[in-house]
Amino acid sequence: MKSIKKSSFTPKVIWLTGLSGSGKTTLATHLKEVLMEQGYPCYILDGDQVRKGLNQDLGFSPTDRKENLRRIGEVSKLFLDAGLFVIAALISPHEEDRQMVKRMFGPGQFVEVYVNCSLEVCEARDPKGLYLKARKGEILHFTGVSAPYEIPNKPDIIIDTELLDIKNSIAKLMQELDKL
Ligand code: ADX
Repeated sequence: MKSIKKSSFTPKVIWLTGLSGSGKTTLATHLKEVLMEQGYPCYILDGDQVRKGLNQDLGFSPTDRKENLRRIGEVSKLFLDAGLFVIAALISPHEEDRQMVKRMFGPGQFVEVYVNCSLEVCEARDPKGLYLKARKGEILHFTGVSAPYEIPNKPDIIIDTELLDIKNSIAKLMQELDKL
């Protein structure tokens, strides 16, 4: 696997945004392994995980999603301060909220990665059975079904998990990170 050049070492937040089932968590886990192997300490902040603890008081209204991301942005700042890369895996469906988080960081510290996968494919994958529940009306305001997902205007990197398998997705991600 290609190493990222040492000049890229300044810790960054690698922010993975995309629909549920697009592959954010899988990408995050593999990216962490690769970065750790190359000697870059990193930590994953995943929506499902953070919502069990720090953000257990938040739901999925637009206001709560914003607060979810704001807190995760603040936590990411602490991790960067400690010298770690942060890999954030969050649906983060609103452009305005992603921009809000981006503004918390200095130039080059925040990398927005759009994990692109069509709703049809995410729904067919349905790894947690949530799309089915959302279609039956058992989950309200579900992103892609009954709540919007705004495609990033100008992501730094796009990874198309519909076209690339995990190995090639990570290879592309590493290549693109190296260019930043
Ligand atoms: S975000 O919109 O605030 O960025 P986040 O990434 O933290 O979302 O959480 C998304 C995860 O919460 C999904 O992967 C899914 O497991 C779960 N979830 C539960 N209810 C919803 C919902 N209404 N919309 C989206 N995800 C939901």
